Amino acid sequence: MRTQVGIIGAGPAGLLLSHLLHLRGISSVVLERRSRDYVERRVRAGVLEQGTVDTLVEAGVGDRMLREGLVHHGIELRYGGSGHRIPFEKLVPGRAITVYGQQEVVKDLIAARLEAGGDVRFEVEDVEVHSLEAAPYLTFGGERLDCEVIAGCDGFHGISRPAIPSGELTYFEREYPFAWLGILARVAPSSEELIYSRTERGFALHSMRSPTISRFYLQVPPDASLDDWPDERIWAELKARLESVPGFTLSTGEIVEKGVTPMRSFVAEPMQYGRLYLAGDAAHIVPPTGAKGLNLAVADVRVLTEALDLFFRTGSAELLDGYSAACLKRVWRAQHFSWWMTTLLHTFESDDAYGRRLQLSYLDYVTSSEAAATTLAENYVGMPW
Ligand code: FAD
Ligand code: DHB
Repeated sequence: MRTQVGIIGAGPAGLLLSHLLHLRGISSVVLERRSRDYVERRVRAGVLEQGTVDTLVEAGVGDRMLREGLVHHGIELRYGGSGHRIPFEKLVPGRAITVYGQQEVVKDLIAARLEAGGDVRFEVEDVEVHSLEAAPYLTFGGERLDCEVIAGCDGFHGISRPAIPSGELTYFEREYPFAWLGILARVAPSSEELIYSRTERGFALHSMRSPTISRFYLQVPPDASLDDWPDERIWAELKARLESVPGFTLSTGEIVEKGVTPMRSFVAEPMQYGRLYLAGDAAHIVPPTGAKGLNLAVADVRVLTEALDLFFRTGSAELLDGYSAACLKRVWRAQHFSWWMTTLLHTFESDDAYGRRLQLSYLDYVTSSEAAATTLAENYVGMPW
């Protein structure tokens, strides 16, 4: 079997890459170890930058997102007993975010690939990469797929990054002393916009998916187990952390999904080796506080598509050679913003009283200085694409 681009992983990065390549007349095969049902149900991110929205619309996979996605023009920072809105329409005019679940993006992309006759294989076993320096190929479940280029879109725990010879990559990493417990609940959102709440009990985030489905996150210990978090405890803790301003009542409902996500910052440099190109979580991870993970994956894929297009049209590897450098500027901006939002809003057990006062003072600055609020807003809505 032969294809131009062998893609490992049917997350947002792999599926979008396959679709964008198809639009340029470039063939690909996507190999995914999980089932279609599993990847379509995996609940993760929800905030799309304008650049991500534009990319999906231009690629013809944005219709449902435009119909069902919720466009937001601000977020609230809640701390010290009051809420402070960061007004995007004033600080970054014309730029907004769209709240639309990652698994809906994945469903839309899978539907588009299959409708176009794309080759997306689910439940594929033992994917391995070979001969990365020249004439690369993939093996899986007893089959061989010869490729001109391989795209490693297999997330943080995938096999493509570890297949790069040791010593070729430099890793930059930071772990955080907490995790996020995320839930999806059948209840109307209690707020029109997202609320990022910092309390002495820890951080909480109120997000949403639709007028009848809400999404919440709680800062929990890094080793937290779902067994320790029965539904009543989750609601009690969300109430304690979100009902921190006068007059705000959190509506509760049936919890339909729960999960714990570790928090880490991670970058592997460069994002390429030989004929293997890493995109999305395979190359970098951000803590979710800045809502950047999915958007970075889409940005990488856009850069890689242009580079592959030039390569297959003209034989020039100029853009491919510069792929990693072209991505890393945005990656590191998002790394800093995500780290900054995380340290601004979470409680750190190691912090003493001085550290906690500094954090509150910084929050006061961000919510009272237009320059500081603009920094937050322009990073949150995303760098221009
Ligand atoms: P992924 O979505 O991880 O896709 C990789 C795909 O590769 C998966 O389908 C996987 O099954 C497949 N794969 C892995 N190994 C192999 C293999 N050996 N062979 C074949 N296929 C393989 N970001 C936010 O902004 N907000 C959030 O709330 C948020 N929550 C998250 C919760 C969790 C549990 C995780 C893991 C991430 C979360 N993120 C969040 C980050 C965001 O979801 C990711 O940045 C985004 O999924 C990246 O897309 P991707 O396609 O690069 O990787
Ligand atoms: C969501 C996730 C995030 O990480 C975030 O910062 C905002 C919203 C969400 O899943 O809706």
